Amino acid sequence: MNSPSPSPATSPEEIQRRKLAAAREALAYVQPGELLGIGSGSTVNIFISLLAERAGDIPAVVAASKASETALTAAGLRVRSMDDVSQLGIYVDGADEIDPRFRMIKGGGAALTREKIIAQAAERFVCIVDASKEVDRLGRFPLPIEIVPPARALVAATVERMGGVVRERAGVVTDNGNLILDVTGLDFGDPEALERNLNQIPGVVCNGVFALRPADVCITAGERVTIRKR
Ligand code: 5RP
Repeated sequence: MNSPSPSPATSPEEIQRRKLAAAREALAYVQPGELLGIGSGSTVNIFISLLAERAGDIPAVVAASKASETALTAAGLRVRSMDDVSQLGIYVDGADEIDPRFRMIKGGGAALTREKIIAQAAERFVCIVDASKEVDRLGRFPLPIEIVPPARALVAATVERMGGVVRERAGVVTDNGNLILDVTGLDFGDPEALERNLNQIPGVVCNGVFALRPADVCITAGERVTIRKR
């Protein structure tokens, strides 16, 4: 029996088309003369490639990962270090999941800590996703947690007592020199409480629940592009 061919809605080509459509809409949020924040991941990489044509309007960009910094520099944009920036206008980033209140799981690319810092500093967080990232309730995507290496056993045991199943991301060291634990099975009934509770565990640098600082604008590309604001 022949296996069914993938539906056009979910083929890799269609997902790429959707990421491009979402990224293109986000260009409208880039204000000339304003410092811009950029996240990381494949959707953001498409956004960076589109940003090249706006390089003349943008004084500088702060980036959430070394990979994004490299792509931005190649696109002709000036990258500024985040460590002397406490405020910026717009932050554009993707997500691994986003719920109807624009709370997210992020960190699939291991850049969650810098992503959360820039999101917190930004006046407006514009999230760009294809429709596969939309969920009614967070928790299907394994939750990334960045930890300092000596905390591995303690954090794993604590998260397991909270109901999580922990797997260390093999071969990954973050841009900050840390490790990533990917966790399934946690209760996402109250994402803000979960985000706070995980932050309390010694050795946790950052967790991938983005609920206390959700996105402000969500640009979702399915068959059509939808723009929603909080
Ligand atoms: C990286 C992230 C990304 O935003 C997230 O993984 C989505 O990536 P992509 O656009 O490749 O699907 O949080 O840490």
